[in-house]
Amino acid sequence: MITSKESPYILGIESSCDETSVAVLKGTSVLSNVICTQEVHARYGGVVPELASRAHMKNIVPVVTDALQQANITAKDLHAIAFTRGPGLMGALLVGVSFAKSLALGLNIPLIEVNHMEAHILAHRIANPENKNPDFPFLCLTVSGGHTQIVQVKDATHFKLLGETLDDAAGEAFDKGAKLLGLPYPGGPEIDKYARKGDPNRFRFPTSRVPGLNYSFSGIKTALLYFLEDGMKKDADFITNNLNDICASYQNTITNYLLEKLEAAVKETGSTQVAIAGGVSANSELRQKLIERAAQWGCELFIPDFSYCTDNGAMIGIAGYYKYLEQDFCGMEVTPKNRMALAT
Ligand code: KG4
Ligand code: ZN
Repeated sequence: MITSKESPYILGIESSCDETSVAVLKGTSVLSNVICTQEVHARYGGVVPELASRAHMKNIVPVVTDALQQANITAKDLHAIAFTRGPGLMGALLVGVSFAKSLALGLNIPLIEVNHMEAHILAHRIANPENKNPDFPFLCLTVSGGHTQIVQVKDATHFKLLGETLDDAAGEAFDKGAKLLGLPYPGGPEIDKYARKGDPNRFRFPTSRVPGLNYSFSGIKTALLYFLEDGMKKDADFITNNLNDICASYQNTITNYLLEKLEAAVKETGSTQVAIAGGVSANSELRQKLIERAAQWGCELFIPDFSYCTDNGAMIGIAGYYKYLEQDFCGMEVTPKNRMALAT
């Protein structure tokens, strides 16, 4: 058995939404990160919670087996099991939580609960070949399908929420916008793809003015709906004939809005390191604009590897690693939480 306290083998289990993902970490290094995306939701145009739980139940054992095999270790080598406690879909979380508990009990090793949003941020602390990780403290824009937050990351276990969306998340604006355009789920990568060939300044969509560093994304999708209805009154094929420009203009509006508040947060906090996290951080325009803006702000920029943008077990593993160092374990009575605040 490996006894190194500094480089424990940690299993990270993610099951909060529609990805069943499991990773093995040795210290901060990822040995395997198996992501099984549930295809079943595509035909419904969004995640169906009950189908997500069923798919997690089907996937969890093979995904864990794969992750251990790829890491070239056995379950007996593990020092701890980290799992997503929340936020997320209750039924989906329940599968990961129950599995993590039974495995930890069977192996007689500690169990570590992880907040999914903290994990997205801490993915930035995973060891990488260029050795390029932000030092604490840093500023992070977390943009996913369920959340949009600007967070001051004090250290691996203390976070200050500076602003967040008051309604829809940025990812939802992409997904719901794509649905209106007749594009498949998830819509973010689809809009990203068509936007590359379009004119971002052809159409204008309004953004909601909300106070401070908060966001509101529900208005933009309604604006798109009315815009499409208007266009289709004049041309029944309005969407098909203008798809690239609509996607480019819609994406341009969302990314500018995200960056406007992030810039205000950089100025307010005087941060010199800025990071993005979550599924929407895979967006090519957001990444490109951030490179330019961060240089103007005089900030060092941290953009995650594509594999660590959308939901993955490795981010749960790294968050678990930091709690392992603090011996911050949980008991078998732990239950999932669909809402969960960041640790302050
Ligand atoms: O973090 P994530 O995998 O799951 C949640 O925790 O929600 O984020 C999923 C979101 C979806 O809304 C998806 O459309 C969006 O990330 N997304 C993108 C891109 N890739 C994924 N949004 C815009 N552009 C992309 N390339
Ligand atoms: Zn996520």
